[in-house]
Amino acid sequence: MDNFTFYAPTYFDFGRNAEEHVGSLIRRFGGRKVLLHYGGGSIKKSGLYDKVVKCLDDEGISYGELGGVKPNPRSGLVYEGIEMCRDEGCDFILAVGGGSTIDSAKAIAAGSCYDGDFWDFYTKKAVIEKALPVGTILTIAAAGSEGSTNTVITNETTGVKTGAGSDLLRPKFSILNPELTCTLPPYQTAAGATDIMIHICERYFSNTEEVEITDRLCEAVLKTMIHETPRVIEDPHNYEARANIMWAGMLAHNNVCGVGRVQDWASHHIEHELSALYDVTHGAGLAVIAPAWMRYVLQINPHKLVQFAERVWDVLPQAESGSGTDEETALLGIEKFEAFLKSIGMPLSFAEIGADAKDIDRLTEKLLAGKETEGNYVKLKAEDVKCIYRSVCED
Ligand code: NZQ
Ligand code: ZN
Repeated sequence: MDNFTFYAPTYFDFGRNAEEHVGSLIRRFGGRKVLLHYGGGSIKKSGLYDKVVKCLDDEGISYGELGGVKPNPRSGLVYEGIEMCRDEGCDFILAVGGGSTIDSAKAIAAGSCYDGDFWDFYTKKAVIEKALPVGTILTIAAAGSEGSTNTVITNETTGVKTGAGSDLLRPKFSILNPELTCTLPPYQTAAGATDIMIHICERYFSNTEEVEITDRLCEAVLKTMIHETPRVIEDPHNYEARANIMWAGMLAHNNVCGVGRVQDWASHHIEHELSALYDVTHGAGLAVIAPAWMRYVLQINPHKLVQFAERVWDVLPQAESGSGTDEETALLGIEKFEAFLKSIGMPLSFAEIGADAKDIDRLTEKLLAGKETEGNYVKLKAEDVKCIYRSVCED
């Protein structure tokens, strides 16, 4: 296991009606003037917006509001938020929604405390040294931004979708009420579940040795997702299944499962090019890319894929049966994963997400701009990435 530091001070308030504590939590973490940030309207439809506003009023907390965050959040609204925070003297940002809203809130939080262009954090021209505190009320289990250091934004001018990170961006508090996720359409539920599983896979597929504790934590989260996801697809109001998924989503990405090892992240970066160009749902893009990545790296570095098949998908070791091989074991695991994704309504090909094979060169060029390789489990060169994209274009 590699050396590591881990600092994850987010306060979680989990369970039914937890959103009613939002006013007192903002006070507790020092907020006096809040920017209330949200997405395209789901919180108004569900009645959550009215509840939150009432809590703020009851606590005597003044606020300005900025809605309209789109999935795959854009830089334009971040600039608007930074200006609002400065003009109105906001000292706290409350994000009510999913990963897109939380990521946009984090960008505004860092950008408001920086004299230059907030995009400098995403091009790595500048390091985040200060940020306004952020609190969240999560409405979809997916991105894990409620407990993570990261923010992913799409720059509207350049079409680049990329991330920035800092411990300063971990939310001060996150309110996780599983009931709030019951209004999600099945496709968003499934895409969220896929994202959670791939956050684990990015950490699991590592060449770092002797990481049994984090391997086993990863496997526990994956097995939980395999058990619970079909239950919520079948019954969207299954509170207990929603609750397990919601906490799994946090555990999958606050890095408790990923410390002490070299992580991969190729599938995410290969996918981000798809969501940047075609505006596909991130989790759906991952359903297309991650199994294709697994099939490709299997030929080069099978060892962790064999373990994935045996421990996560309960595939019997084929080599032990005499005639089979480790690679066959791994392949059976990948096939089970693909069948699972299909069963929850996720796409597995370019065609299903409206992506076009003619863009493969362009996608790869953007992905590798200034870099020799992508990922760590296997270091992928441009031709490898193209093979992965091409493999999901075939029938
Ligand atoms: O915008 P509204 O109207 O709220 O609708 C949203 C949106 O259309 C809807 N929704 C959310 N909660 C709902 C609901 N609809 C009904 N009932 C509810 N309870 O769902 C749609 C998707 O929302 P979004 O916030 O985009 O989802 P998600 O949480 O999957 O976030 C995706 C974004 O997070 C980034 C992705 O790249 C993508 O841009 N990621 C962020 C990470 C991080 N910050 O650590 C890591 C991830 O790997 C990921 O890259
Ligand atoms: Zn993700």
